[in-house]
Amino acid sequence: MKKTKLILNLLAVVFLAGAVPAVAAAELHLIPWPARITQQDGQFALNDQTAVVADHAFAGEAAALSETLHLTNTASASKNRIELTTRGAQGLAEEAYQLEVAPEGITIRAATSAGAFYGCQTLRQLLDASTRTVPAVKITDAPRYAWRGFMLDVSRHFFDQPTIQREIDWLAGYKLNRLHLHLTDDPAWRLEIQKYPELTRTGARGNFSDSNAPAAYFTREAMRQIIAYAQARHIVVVPEIDMPGHASAATRTYPQLDGGVHTFNPGRDDTYDFLQNVLLDVMDTFPSPWIHLGGDEVDCSVWNTDPTVAKKLQADGLKSPQQLEQSFIRRMAAFIQDHGRTPVGWDEVAAAKPVRNTLIFWWRHDRPEVLDQALAAGYDVVLAPRAPCYFDYPQDLTYPVKGRKLFNTLDAVYRGPEIPKTITPAQRQHILGVEGCVWTEHIATTSYLEFMTLPRLAALSEMAWTPEEARDFARFDGCLKPFLQQYHETGIHYYDETDPAGSLHNANQPTAQSAQREKPSHPATAVNN
Ligand code: ACM
Repeated sequence: MKKTKLILNLLAVVFLAGAVPAVAAAELHLIPWPARITQQDGQFALNDQTAVVADHAFAGEAAALSETLHLTNTASASKNRIELTTRGAQGLAEEAYQLEVAPEGITIRAATSAGAFYGCQTLRQLLDASTRTVPAVKITDAPRYAWRGFMLDVSRHFFDQPTIQREIDWLAGYKLNRLHLHLTDDPAWRLEIQKYPELTRTGARGNFSDSNAPAAYFTREAMRQIIAYAQARHIVVVPEIDMPGHASAATRTYPQLDGGVHTFNPGRDDTYDFLQNVLLDVMDTFPSPWIHLGGDEVDCSVWNTDPTVAKKLQADGLKSPQQLEQSFIRRMAAFIQDHGRTPVGWDEVAAAKPVRNTLIFWWRHDRPEVLDQALAAGYDVVLAPRAPCYFDYPQDLTYPVKGRKLFNTLDAVYRGPEIPKTITPAQRQHILGVEGCVWTEHIATTSYLEFMTLPRLAALSEMAWTPEEARDFARFDGCLKPFLQQYHETGIHYYDETDPAGSLHNANQPTAQSAQREKPSHPATAVNN
């Protein structure tokens, strides 16, 4: 009896051993994890003769890949090549790609240049830089969401062009595709508007920490460079000009437009003239199909005391300041639409019933009915609820919080926003995606910005890209290790779950590399004009 069992055990060992490939499968560290992946035997080895060859449509992606891989050979060869092609890609969705790595060569197939770009990003992550080898795999990949966004508030504290471009690099590496810049708010106005130079000459002065900080803003030229840099990485830069609230920087500069409590005065015709001229300038600078008009947290409690508001209410047949706020939103959204762009607003704007194609950003996580109502009214929605999408909330339960009870841990970001059960499958089609947001009241330096952003940006990326059934936090956490190592080696600050106290301390202690980066974004030296 015992002997039989031993033989069976031995047979099992032999059988199982036979099932193991001759070379153990390489451990893959991919973020975001692809929709479908199968590992094969073998690997592709890069050498100086490896050629990158591409269809004409993918020339830009091929050039960028050659540069990152330090490859110069573009001669057509049948072997030892990395090919970027539309061949066989019919039927692949926008942004989708297939990547096949075999010992003889690598093929990336895509129907669009965005798809080819994402295939290249995956290839870069697969490459073992020390051995210059890529494990053999077959990947078929496409994003879960079309809108994979990241918002940065540059009004409360200014972050300069090099910092923004570094953020863009991270977004591109993680296959995120929208950079939403919150350009105006109470502390400062951060975008040059040619018709209103005072907006930046004086309106760009100050920040949340220091109302006397020198003017810091993006010139039109600097912003165009940022947009082009993002465009080459398949990222759209979406501008936000917040109105009618969060307007103090502008109303400080032009007091006649002041409606009180941080608002523009919606009773005056010149408020509309001013904002429409601003929007025309913004649309001239930004090719973005989407223009964000804010619309959040409007306090119209003192509008009642203003005679121009009273006149406007009467003239327009409106009964309350709230109705005027809504009429203001409808008018500005229609203006954006009339100029061929899609208006975007925070979730308050849904109550105004602006033009049907307005894109609504749901941010009030404790008001799920607002999401419900926006979807029921037929609007497209992006999910950006404070929990878990605001990266200005602490990452670790041991961290002190100033009057705030919310924490957005790495795994909470990874799990993503909770979609209320009341949302029907048909309504889900109108959820275009998700966005992580960094509000910068308490984030004044690039080192702290890095620490608050990383690695939650990676978790956001996998939540936004990878289909629900392919997500696995334990695997993601394992995949993160080489990314964290790379942050460490390049002096980038990040939250380290194995050392929360140390990483928090380090975020306020710039490294030698980051000290260099720190300089331009320090409020006292952030002038960009
Ligand atoms: C917001 O957090 N006020 C959109």
